[in-house]
Amino acid sequence: MDPRTDDVAVEHFMDWLRDAHAMEQQAETMLTSMARRLENYPDLKLRIEQHLEETRQQARLLATCIERRGGDTSSLKDLVGKAVAMGQGLSGMFATDEVVKGAMFSYAFEHLEIAAYRNLIGAARTVGDTETQQVCERILAEEEAMADWLERHQDSIAARYLELSRVPGAQAKR
Ligand SMILES: [Fe+2]
Repeated sequence: MDPRTDDVAVEHFMDWLRDAHAMEQQAETMLTSMARRLENYPDLKLRIEQHLEETRQQARLLATCIERRGGDTSSLKDLVGKAVAMGQGLSGMFATDEVVKGAMFSYAFEHLEIAAYRNLIGAARTVGDTETQQVCERILAEEEAMADWLERHQDSIAARYLELSRVPGAQAKR
């Protein structure tokens, strides 16, 4: 590989790593708020709390990868700013069917993360950063497991929401 191409690859790789780190920080905020608000969906709440722990660890692992390469984790990228806005818009926190929209948005967000880690795995391979590649493969597996869980539970969440909506005085939306 010629040195100029290599520089470009390394630059993108670092950008994508910082994006992923900021994305995990955003995920932590969203998952924290969802877990805190949920009352009548114990399985969902438990799974979100578990993924929240994974997410915190993912952010730490990414920070270690960035710092090992001499970068810093302070800069928040544009893409992430957009994701934040999208997250706030779609998470439907104030919707009457908050839990249904929240699960839907989480499913979409997990897939954004999955794509981001696939990019990073390819880039890590390109620049020869085996350690970061392994970290991203581990994180990818956690995101896929979360997406899979949400995929298998979306219908029962919607059904429970509709059921609770019929019960007078019940808090169906969360
Ligand atoms: Fe994540």
